[in-house]
Amino acid sequence: MKSKMVLLLPAILGLLWVAPAVAGDHVEAAEEYKTDSETGLIKAPGFDTVKNNCTVCHSARLFTSRGYTRKIWLEQIRWMQDTQGLWEFSPEVEEEILDYLETFYPPS
Ligand code: HEC
Repeated sequence: MKSKMVLLLPAILGLLWVAPAVAGDHVEAAEEYKTDSETGLIKAPGFDTVKNNCTVCHSARLFTSRGYTRKIWLEQIRWMQDTQGLWEFSPEVEEEILDYLETFYPPS
C-alpha cells in the first residue's frame, strides 16, 4: 500500500504540472515573446526589420498602440511613402514588416 502511494504521488504532481502547460497552448502568439524595453516592440520574427525601419521618425508606440489588418497596415505604409518621406521597401522586406505587424498588432 505504501509503495503504491510512492508511485502515485509523483504521477499526480506530474499531472498538475503538465495541465497548465497544455491549457497554455491557446495563448495569443504575442504572449510567447518578450517585449523590447527600448521600443516596446514585441521581439518576434521581423522585429529587427520593423525596429530599423519604423522607429526612425516616430516612436513605435505611435503604431503599437493600435492594431490593423494587413491591408490597413499596408495603406499606412503607402501613405507615409507618398506624403511623409518613408523610403521604398524591397518586396521581401515589405512582406516581413507586414507579416510582423499583421501577426502581432492585429485589430483589437
Ligand atoms: C520617414 C519617416 C517615417 C518612417 C520611417 C515611418 N513613419 Fe510612420 N509616420 C510618419 C509620420 C510623419 C507620421 C504622422 C505622425 C503624426 O501624425 O503625428 C506617421 C504616422 C504613422 C502611423 C499613423 C498613426 C496614426 O496617428 O494613425 C502609423 C500606423 C505609422 N506611422 C506606422 C509606421 C510603420 C509601421 C513604419 C515602418 C514601416 C513607419 N511608420 C515608419 C513618418 C514615418
